[in-house]
Formats: sequence, structure tokens, C-alpha cells
Amino acid sequence: MKQEIGFLKTAVKPLLEWYRENKRDLPWRHERTPYTVLVSELMLQQTRVEAVRERYVEFLRRFPTAEALAAASEDEVLKAWEGLGYYSRARNLRKAAKIIAAEGFPRTWVGVRALPGVGDYTAGAICSVALGLKTPAVDGNVLRILSRLFADESNVDGTAVRKAYSAALAAVYPPEAGEFTEALMELGAIVCVPGGAPLCNACPWRKLCRAHLAGREEDFPVRGEKKARKIVELNVFVLKCGNKYALQKRGKGLLAGLWEFPNFEGDAPEIGKTLLKKTAKHVFTHIEWRMTGYLIEVEKEAPCYVWATAEEIGKTYAVPSAFKAFTEWLR
Ligand code: ADE
Repeated sequence: MKQEIGFLKTAVKPLLEWYRENKRDLPWRHERTPYTVLVSELMLQQTRVEAVRERYVEFLRRFPTAEALAAASEDEVLKAWEGLGYYSRARNLRKAAKIIAAEGFPRTWVGVRALPGVGDYTAGAICSVALGLKTPAVDGNVLRILSRLFADESNVDGTAVRKAYSAALAAVYPPEAGEFTEALMELGAIVCVPGGAPLCNACPWRKLCRAHLAGREEDFPVRGEKKARKIVELNVFVLKCGNKYALQKRGKGLLAGLWEFPNFEGDAPEIGKTLLKKTAKHVFTHIEWRMTGYLIEVEKEAPCYVWATAEEIGKTYAVPSAFKAFTEWLR
């Protein structure tokens, strides 16, 4: 990568100028504190900007400071995160808030990286945006734009290319560190897009980009084969007793700590009178649930479940979107 640093350096100024003219008006770009940057960066991990916009504003209204978040229960925080997915982020954010409330916000990359839920990418983003440090944040977007800029034939999966790009970026970071980090992300989000033709005419790198100059934008990034998802068949029981419904809390693993309808893999036991039945699918990163849901009227509130009304479920129990097709049945 050494020989590329001079080349990469020529790409910095045009990108910053483009960003200042073209950046989107996003809520987390208004007033920023280290805490709000932490919240936005954790929320934006693996989640689309459009899905985060309003939720970020609501979350900060509810938990305006690290102290406020540190004082909340895990259930409250999971409820505020409902529908955003990857719920360990919410649990980690609450743990991080407790550390920050007790010790203050860390001032170094090592300190930020040690916060729960903060990996290399997020530490780079937070440190550059919140603290002005020259710390690169290389995610899938940055891998894509740099692999195109360099017309790099290396497979970007794994850590080698990520490390090489981080090192190259670290060598060219301008004093406007936060702006540069966000400019790289922004270019990947609105110009050098994945899945379909990038908008090269609008790109500040159109005269530099080796992939574009060769007409090969869509050949990059080079990736390996994706592993197939594991398919899980689930029977989901929405048990109704009067105006209450049965919920149970998930244990460790996928969607840990969230509330769900009782469910079983494989053959469904006979429980009561089925009022409604439908199928639904939910795709996670590594697993796909193929669900058959049953709305069943029962006579007694089995004590192994928590029984709650539709209103109580809406207000206080975080039920993952995977069950959305069945929460529609609640009245
Ligand atoms: N994705 C991750 N962090 C982001 C940010 N600060 N702005 C826009 N998209 C992002």
C-alpha cells in the first residue's frame, strides 16, 4: 500500500470540498457531544440511515445524557431500541453509558475502543468525529470506495485489506478529521453506491478513480462467496386469554433479553383452538426463520408466561420485528 499514499493524498481535498457542498442534513450532524456521537454510531452500525433518523432523535429525547441512559433499566433501553435490530448494541450502549457517567468520556482511541460495543470501525468514527483525532473508520462503504479508487483486486473480506486501508488513510488524514471520516462514508452512501451502477458523474474522484477510468466500477470490491443462512422452522403461538397474551423473555443468544411469543422448532404441540394461522419469514444475518403463527384462545393463564394486554405490550415489552406479522393480531 505504501506506494498508494501519495495517490490517496490527492483524493483528500476534492472529497472534503464535495462533502461540504453535498452532505445530507442528518439529525446527528447538528449538535454533537461525544455521547450523541456514541449513540448515533452504535445505532448506525448495520442499520440504514433512513431507519435511524427519527429513532435517534427519539432516543436522545428519552435519554439526553449518558447519566440518563445509565440510570435506565435494560428493559427500558431495549424498548427504546425496539425494531432497530442487533439488540446487543442497546445493551452495550447502556453499559457504556454507565462507564461514561462514572468516569467521564474517554479521550483516547484506546479508551473509546474499550467501551462495550465499540469495535475498530466505531472507535475510529467516534474519535475522529467527537474528539477530532486522525483515526480512520473503515466499514463496508469505505472498503468499496477505496477498492474502486485503487481498482484493488484483493478480496476485501477478512482483515488484511481493512488494515491496509486503515493504515493508508491514517497517513493522509487532514486536520478536519471528523469531516473527512463522514465524507468517506457519505461518498459511499450517496455516490459510490453498492448494488447497481454508482453515480460517477457526481463523484469528486471521477478523474482519479482507477475503476471508473477503466470502466470497471462494478468489478469492485472483490468479495468471496457468501455462506448460506441456516434455515429454522418455527411454530409461533400467540396465546390469548381474555384480553391478555402470553409472552416469554428470550435467554442468551439471538435477540437475548427481548420478549417473544412462545415458540417451538419442529412439530407443533396441540394447545387449544386455533383462531387464525399464517406464515411469515424473517431474515437475520446468519439465520432465516420460517414461521407458522397460530392465534390460539386458551382458558387459563399458564403461569410459565407473562400475560399482558396489547396496550401493555405496545408500551413496555420490547418484541422484535421478527414477530411483526403476529403482533398484528393483538387487539
Ligand atoms: N454511518 C455510520 N456512521 C455514520 C455517520 N456519522 N453519518 C452517516 N452515516 C453513517
